[in-house]
Amino acid sequence: MAQENLEAVLNDLHCKYKSLQDGAVAKYIPELAKVNPELFSICVVTVDGEVYQVGDDKQLFTIQSISKVFAYGLALEDHGRDYVLTRVGVEPTGDAFNAIILDEQSNRPLNPMVNAGAIATTSLIKGNGATERLNRMLNMFRGYIGHDVFVDISVFTSERSTGHRNRAMAHLMLNFGMIDRNIEESLDLYFQQCAVMVNCQDLAVMAATLANKGINPVTKERAVNSSYIKDILSVMYTCGMYNFAGEWAYKIGIPAKSGVCGGIIAIVPNQMGIGVFSPRLDARGNSVRGVKVCEELSQQLGLHLFECSRNNFKSGDLCN
Ligand code: DON
Repeated sequence: MAQENLEAVLNDLHCKYKSLQDGAVAKYIPELAKVNPELFSICVVTVDGEVYQVGDDKQLFTIQSISKVFAYGLALEDHGRDYVLTRVGVEPTGDAFNAIILDEQSNRPLNPMVNAGAIATTSLIKGNGATERLNRMLNMFRGYIGHDVFVDISVFTSERSTGHRNRAMAHLMLNFGMIDRNIEESLDLYFQQCAVMVNCQDLAVMAATLANKGINPVTKERAVNSSYIKDILSVMYTCGMYNFAGEWAYKIGIPAKSGVCGGIIAIVPNQMGIGVFSPRLDARGNSVRGVKVCEELSQQLGLHLFECSRNNFKSGDLCN
């Protein structure tokens, strides 16, 4: 596909779905309710570092649950696969992202993409005290994004003061010995990672880094050990879109993760990362326009991993 064609595809999708107003912005974190629901951007970054974007691409928003993917990678680097598996499973739930459910036999949260699993994952991030742990988390994001990142203090404090459900999950996991650190410190770190500010291009660069075996294709810096890419992408594929994960895998067919900010990242291994931002969400917490855009991109570019006639775009192809 020619470069102009991919640009045209993104422009067409933006035009087509700009008028779609289904869904509603997340309100359960009071600060999130203030977002302009009309914001809309789409960005694709290839593993060669080429960037294609349309819409409000400079608009900052908080990364929310998309952070869970990257925190999981850091926990894997800190402890290794076997230990992390003793603390958080890899089973899809079929339940909402904020369900208060642990596996009945192991007492583990079901997977690292739902809130309970993500809190357990974040509790594993190493560091000597809250500041060092936060700095390690921010430094990890910097590697994926290619520039320094900051926490939106209003969103962080808004979620910290209203996140009683997440606090309940943390206490339940403490009861079962699944979290053995200071839970308030780990909850703060979880709320802070969710409140990291990004734009749509940042999302696509992060996605492209996962598509590129853990190396940021723009800065060429390694963000995560390549041996954990398959673990990260597997849980994204089976659990990243919550109780829509099965239909997403069936129809769209690439690893992805959404957040209540209205962001979605999707990864086409060895080819590209996709970022979409549009704050109105469906009942499962996934961006309405984001799902539509990814569905059409997957169809038009033949991205489904199990598509027999799957295209294998390289950016060389995109330029021909
Ligand atoms: O823990 C929470 O509820 C939020 N900080 C993140 C939730 C989220 O993004 C779920 N996504 N759909």
